[in-house]
Amino acid sequence: MVKVAERVEQLPPYLFVQIRQKEREARARGIDVISLGVGDPDQPTPGHIIDTLVDAARDPAMHVYPPDEERGMEIFRAAIARWYKRRFEVTLDLDKHVLALIGSKEGNHHIALAYLDPGDVALIPDPAYPAYVASAIFAGAQLVRLPLHAEHGWLLRFQDIPTDLAKRAKILWLNYPNNPTTALAPQHFWKEAAEWAQAFDTIVVNDFPYSEIAFDEPTVSALSTNRLDAPVVEFNSLSKPYNMTGWRIGMAVGNADIIAALRKVKENTDSGIFGAIQRAGIEALDGPQDHITSLVQLYRRRRDLVVETWRSIGLGMKHPQATFYVWAPIPQGMHSIEFAGALLEKTGVVVTPGIGYGNHGDHYVRMSLTIADDRLEEAMRRIKAVGQW
Ligand SMILES: Cc1ncc(COP(=O)(O)O)c(C=O)c1O
Repeated sequence: MVKVAERVEQLPPYLFVQIRQKEREARARGIDVISLGVGDPDQPTPGHIIDTLVDAARDPAMHVYPPDEERGMEIFRAAIARWYKRRFEVTLDLDKHVLALIGSKEGNHHIALAYLDPGDVALIPDPAYPAYVASAIFAGAQLVRLPLHAEHGWLLRFQDIPTDLAKRAKILWLNYPNNPTTALAPQHFWKEAAEWAQAFDTIVVNDFPYSEIAFDEPTVSALSTNRLDAPVVEFNSLSKPYNMTGWRIGMAVGNADIIAALRKVKENTDSGIFGAIQRAGIEALDGPQDHITSLVQLYRRRRDLVVETWRSIGLGMKHPQATFYVWAPIPQGMHSIEFAGALLEKTGVVVTPGIGYGNHGDHYVRMSLTIADDRLEEAMRRIKAVGQW
């Protein structure tokens, strides 16, 4: 057998693959499993976006490599620039500051290849979405995890990053609204981030795919300072606001040098997004946005049900501010894998153990709200029936 590369061997087992395995085993034992594990919208893509795709797919001009290939079509990049202006009051030059992505996950991966040499330091919060760790490992980087704390609202405190570490770091990954903690970052946080990035010549990435899923406070873009001279880049995506996870379309926006470096990696890796999907993406960004209001209302209703259930079993928690997850505390003295296992045994409900996002997540589990109402209600009924922990 040919030995796989060291970088592949170093990868931690992908959390969601492990969860799916547990689900399969429980189902094989005849349990009616309800999974709150994976965050993938249960609602369909809005009809006007699908109609645009269907029409565009019939156009032979769309059947070839897309114009501008890895960069994204000019008309799609222009739609991104318009959307950023409208949504976040950020002014972007579509040639310098905008790149189409095959989902924000792609941006996270390619920025690691663009900037991290073997041994370079990559800073990743703990807890964090697991893909950042994998991307840094692929690049051979030295990973340093930065603990986040509930008492600071899960916001990274720049003053807590040791200066010598900040000087050595090349990338700091951030993600607000945050998966898994559901935290939002305010405007002053991004001002501080831009200043920190510039002071230490370190790239700050804000992975921003939950920008449209917030309940009370508005979300703030990392570029809202309009300081495009600072080494800050943001990845966003059509996956979550438009229920388009399967379509694979997103964007990188920000500092021109970073966009150029990402483009260079992409130029040598992929040939862009199917043109008809980009045309549908324009319709998503420019078209009616009212379904997002209904979507957020739907997630709010589901969130309230989960929070109320959690409180009823003696595990107090605040209402999440954003994203379609609930980051729920577990009984004191238990570990998250142990709790998730016990919950699956008692109720058939699958939740994600917080340790999958880093050691500092071990006193929490994450539940996804992207499941049909009747199944979520059934899951909460079963959890309530078990009573206090
Ligand atoms: C924090 C975070 N980043 C990126 C992604 C992937 O998004 P996309 O579909 O745009 O690749 C997800 C998906 O769950 C996510 O939670």
